[in-house]
Amino acid sequence: MVRVRAPATTANLGPGFDTLGMALNLYLQVEAELMGSGIEIVFSGVRDRLVMESPQENLIYKAMNLVFKKALYQPTGLYIEIDNDIPIGKGLGSSAAAIVAGMFTANRLIGDPFSSEELLRWAVAMEGHADNVVPCRTGGLTVAMVYKGEVFYQRVQAGQELQVVAAVPEFILTTEQSRSVLPSSIALPEVISNLQRACFLLASLYNGDFSHIDKAMQDMVFQPLRQQFIPGFQQVLKSALAAGALGTALSGAGPSVMAFTRAGQETVVGQAMAEAFGEAGVKVQVLYLKPDMQGVHYY
Ligand code: HSE
Repeated sequence: MVRVRAPATTANLGPGFDTLGMALNLYLQVEAELMGSGIEIVFSGVRDRLVMESPQENLIYKAMNLVFKKALYQPTGLYIEIDNDIPIGKGLGSSAAAIVAGMFTANRLIGDPFSSEELLRWAVAMEGHADNVVPCRTGGLTVAMVYKGEVFYQRVQAGQELQVVAAVPEFILTTEQSRSVLPSSIALPEVISNLQRACFLLASLYNGDFSHIDKAMQDMVFQPLRQQFIPGFQQVLKSALAAGALGTALSGAGPSVMAFTRAGQETVVGQAMAEAFGEAGVKVQVLYLKPDMQGVHYY
């Protein structure tokens, strides 16, 4: 039996679109073994099993199959047990976790023929962008760069002391829908402001100086277009900051909103975010999280 645990992630962190990401201590666990025949997918302790029921739609199974195909291996049968705590379609990296967990599981089942760098490259290609896949693989805070089709990344020793509050709306927003409103080109002043903020944010997190990350996390390009999908979005950001959040942003493609806080501030920030969402008619689940420093691993 192979057992793999993959973390949730929050991507973008405001201005770092498709670039910055952080792993969170909320997990998808997969147990699998090769069988004589048949495909059996079992859910245990699943909080949210949408779109994961049938093998054809199950992203974990699809990712496993991709690795089997690369190895020219065809399993006669598979048993997969899924224990998922990552809300699906909420901007917390559930698909990246499914793909990464699936690929690492399949690779181990057939004797680790591929390196983790190869798996990472295929996972990014399957996901379509690197900013969730990379921190899911490495843990911590990461910077992803796709250069001439190849994925490069840095893991930054930063952010361990931060608490992460995620306000997770009941409704689903697919990444596809959230990306459909993005522009094909951006004016230079907007590029400059996002570039400055993303670099400033990274430097602040690295230096442990959180005094201006509220400003650095204000994205000028993507969030203003995506907020049409998220009732109360601006008020949620404002309420989180007023309650003491260090900085706040849409988590990945949304609809969840995340906030960084110092230890001890998280509850009041979470309550403020839930209230602001509530006033806009949106019911949320508030998750109190921390950065995961390990990334995907066997257990
Ligand atoms: N960077 C991606 C986006 C993350 O914002 O569309 C999707 O989870």
